[in-house]
Amino acid sequence: MKTLLDQEQLNDGVQELADAINSQYGNTPLTIVGVLTGSVVLMADLIRKLNMPLRVGVVQTSSYQGTERGKLTINSEMMLDITERDVLLIDDIFDTGHTLQEVRALMHTLGPASLKSAVLLCKTGRQEVDWRPEFVAFDIPDEFVVGYGLDYNDQYRNLPFLACLEEADIA
Ligand code: IMP
Ligand code: MG
Repeated sequence: MKTLLDQEQLNDGVQELADAINSQYGNTPLTIVGVLTGSVVLMADLIRKLNMPLRVGVVQTSSYQGTERGKLTINSEMMLDITERDVLLIDDIFDTGHTLQEVRALMHTLGPASLKSAVLLCKTGRQEVDWRPEFVAFDIPDEFVVGYGLDYNDQYRNLPFLACLEEADIA
């Protein structure tokens, strides 16, 4: 597998993401909602770099089978109460944008005081929605990537670096 971002680059990118979030929110209490399962590694690293009073919840979505998108399902039972809270939605990657768009729409119906989004990765030229997360650590080329939480059929999430999945890896 070809390494796209090594551990040091990931750590630096997550630190910059945390710096931007810390300077945006200051000491304002924040509710983080991570999208399972891809955001777990980012969440673990990011929340330890945030300084404000923090609540951490999760929402589960699933849409992919292999590298193809399927129908999106959202399970929000473990999201925490977000009404009148400042909320930051966290995901691993912004690809077409439909996943975060749908989760965001669901969360807006619950009346948060504010709602912003942060992602580790934004895939260049893939978006089918007319907005972009307020916080993005890395813009990457249009390749299928795994590691640092991202999977291919539930494999490779534990790689400590980010790699491009190539035809040979799939076969
Ligand atoms: P979107 O709805 O197209 O923006 O897709 C977002 C979700 O698809 C992310 O939460 C990921 O779980 C998954 N995804 C998109 N691109 C990749 C990739 O390159 N590798 C692994 N997962 C991906
Ligand atoms: Mg995901």
